[in-house]
Amino acid sequence: MITDIYRFNFGGNVCTVEIGMSLKGLNALRRVPVSAKDTLYVYDDNTEGLFAGDIEKITGREEESAAVRVVIDHGEEHKSWESVNRILEKAVESDFGRDCTFMGIGGGVLTDLVAFASSVYMRGSGLILVPTTLLSMVDASIGGKTGFNYHGYKNLIGTFYPAEKVCIAIETLESLPENEFNAGIAEVIKTAMLGDEELFGMLEREKKRLLGRDGELLKEIVGRCVIFKGRLVEEDLRERGKRAFLNLGHTFAHALESSVNFKGILHGEAVAWGLLKALELGAQLNITDYSYMERVKNLLLDYGFPLKYDSIKPARLISAMYGDKKKRKGNLRFILQRSIGDNLIEEGISEELLNRVLSG
Ligand code: GLY
Repeated sequence: MITDIYRFNFGGNVCTVEIGMSLKGLNALRRVPVSAKDTLYVYDDNTEGLFAGDIEKITGREEESAAVRVVIDHGEEHKSWESVNRILEKAVESDFGRDCTFMGIGGGVLTDLVAFASSVYMRGSGLILVPTTLLSMVDASIGGKTGFNYHGYKNLIGTFYPAEKVCIAIETLESLPENEFNAGIAEVIKTAMLGDEELFGMLEREKKRLLGRDGELLKEIVGRCVIFKGRLVEEDLRERGKRAFLNLGHTFAHALESSVNFKGILHGEAVAWGLLKALELGAQLNITDYSYMERVKNLLLDYGFPLKYDSIKPARLISAMYGDKKKRKGNLRFILQRSIGDNLIEEGISEELLNRVLSG
């Protein structure tokens, strides 16, 4: 079975992304050059049961019960210092040296946590990520952002630490619950909006195949997102410029997630709502093309995203946005679009205008 291999240079660090249909087919996993003693396998409580046997066998642990594992509870509320600490404690207890490798197998929460722990363990261990959700395949595992939530602020603590290898097996998406799979499509839509018109058209035409998790289609879609994000991050690893475009919809999305204490709304669902809000804000400023906004709205509705959260008051959302801004001593910034691929950053949006957009 053919696998696709992409190589990126993220701030001088080579990151190889391999995309194949099955875990078994990934050369990057079969060639993990480590002994049983020096790999720390980190799963969440879903991925351990689903993939630990296969992953450890493929990476050379078939005879051994020696694989050193940590299992983290899944969910945004566990994206915490406590989870990072458990990973680090296991590495210390197991006498892992600086040449060890941390391997994170799971969704975006898990891969961000493992990547952070890896970045600080002895000033940096080896890092391999095996993303198993659509969201982590197309976004979280690519480009080196790591981190965890702190004092109620999303990803307040973090580092830039690209994985050496990202191993993507499309088959791991088969076991994903429907709501999580569908939520991941929001980040795919975001990528298409930012600059892949062909992908946008594909999403419009191929809804049935995509929701049916057609493997070949998924491989192509994930590949397009990896290339788009990888190229952009190669130009701007530390988000001094255009990497910020990847935050399209995210100022709104993070405010929504923080307003519900990161419970009950999936990140992708919040992003879908945030994408529409960013376009509505742009339309209010006479920046965003109205027919483009309608096209995106129809696509989001077609994929079943609930684009209304009426029970959360605009004032609550605005206070979450300003709280986050104050904490980071930055300006409240919005990524806006004129139309597909035509992106800009806007600051100085009035509270009154925000209130109008959030009341709509
Ligand atoms: N998820 C946004 C970024 O990686 O920059």
